[in-house]
Amino acid sequence: MRISVIGCGYVGLVTGACLAEAGHEVVCTDINTERIAQLNAGGVPIYEEHLGEILASARKSGKISYTANIGDAIRSGDAIFICVGTPPKDSGEADLSAIDHVARQIAAEAQSSKLVVEKSTVPARTGLELSRALKAYSRGDARKFRVASNPEFLREGTAVYDFFHPDRIVVGVEDVSTAEELREIYRPILERKFHCPVHQGACPPAAKAEFLVTTINSAELIKHASNSFLALKISYANVIADLCERIGADVEEVTHAMGLDPRIGTQFLKAGLGFGGFCFPKDVQAFIHLSATVGVDFEILKATERVNKQRIERFLEKIHKALWVVKGKRIAVLGLAFKANTDDIRFAPALDVVKKLLDEGAVLHASDPEAIAGTRKLFPQIEYHDDPYETLRNADAALVCTEWDIFKKMDWDRAGKLMARKLVIDGRNLYSPKHMRELGFEYYSFGRE
Ligand code: UDX
Repeated sequence: MRISVIGCGYVGLVTGACLAEAGHEVVCTDINTERIAQLNAGGVPIYEEHLGEILASARKSGKISYTANIGDAIRSGDAIFICVGTPPKDSGEADLSAIDHVARQIAAEAQSSKLVVEKSTVPARTGLELSRALKAYSRGDARKFRVASNPEFLREGTAVYDFFHPDRIVVGVEDVSTAEELREIYRPILERKFHCPVHQGACPPAAKAEFLVTTINSAELIKHASNSFLALKISYANVIADLCERIGADVEEVTHAMGLDPRIGTQFLKAGLGFGGFCFPKDVQAFIHLSATVGVDFEILKATERVNKQRIERFLEKIHKALWVVKGKRIAVLGLAFKANTDDIRFAPALDVVKKLLDEGAVLHASDPEAIAGTRKLFPQIEYHDDPYETLRNADAALVCTEWDIFKKMDWDRAGKLMARKLVIDGRNLYSPKHMRELGFEYYSFGRE
């Protein structure tokens, strides 16, 4: 099918690239003309494993193209995927102005009926508003816009893998025939008939993805409810960590044993600096706000958010306790991205920590495999190093803020010899306290002795 993707960010670009790789003709557009120029020049504006490879292959086969002219993009597709940002307002409510703006452009530019697919994460009932808006903005003309919600379940860092190997594809529609159009779009993925960049060919036989058809409201709720539950698990693990510190227990052992119960599961029970990124923080806020508008007080999500915000204070308490005076101290920050395997620093806990330490007069050196360029724009006063060991040279303390493999594999015996003081404050519980202390380090982490 011919597909238009509006918004070339983490979701839109991965969606466009993977649908092209699955055999569709895709035209991508974005309000950011520099990004379109970069894509047209063969550039890859975001870091996602396998993305560069499939963009190059789709470009070579002519399956994907980019235009800054949204009208051309709208007219070219039978289906239009809306993948624009829905950032939180100060109130926590999702800002849907970009979605409304796109709806007006679709109504103004489309010259035939279209399937309009809402992929951005939005509060429930947005799709119904979108449907109403499309009718209102194209008053009375013959075109028929079919609207569907098709939430993304892509984790940054594994987005291409997640797109090609979904647990479930959820479509929310107003009538069943629209669902069949989406089933057609996803058929290559449902039947695993595509060249998988992750498996370099055919994927190993695995559990088939479930293609779930529901209403628009339910599809939108599934997304918010899923993400918020994952965030809740993380905050639950963080309160267990606080308990372990006071009682004298080990949060890694407690959460591991909890997770052996399949009803709980081991994932998303990692204590530490908590969740960041452009999904969890805003989805939790938007879900709390949506619930309040219909008279439901989502107290446990408010607690989830409060516990998560406290992680920064807890981490700074550990730093102050260990360093006493922060001003003038040389501190090495290992990890800036909100999580490993991404360059994304939006709502990154590391940046909250960095900002507080700079305000207190610390001298910061930092390293991150992918997020230095983005962070340097915000904090030019930090000295950045590609080599994490250089970051540690003469440091009075090392902070671990992101769970990158390169940090997990650090040779701390070598690192310790470079540091002015062998002090590590580990925000992601990457290391064994026993091993670090055997190497002569003062070592602090979350939820462990
Ligand atoms: C999330 C959801 O996982 C994904 O399904 C959804 O489509 C988009 O939002 P993402 O935000 O990319 O994906 O990252 P994720 O891997 O979920 O981690 C979010 C944050 O939680 C990161 O800051 C990570 O460091 C933190 N985290 C994760 C923990 O603190 N503890 C954990 O156990 C897991």
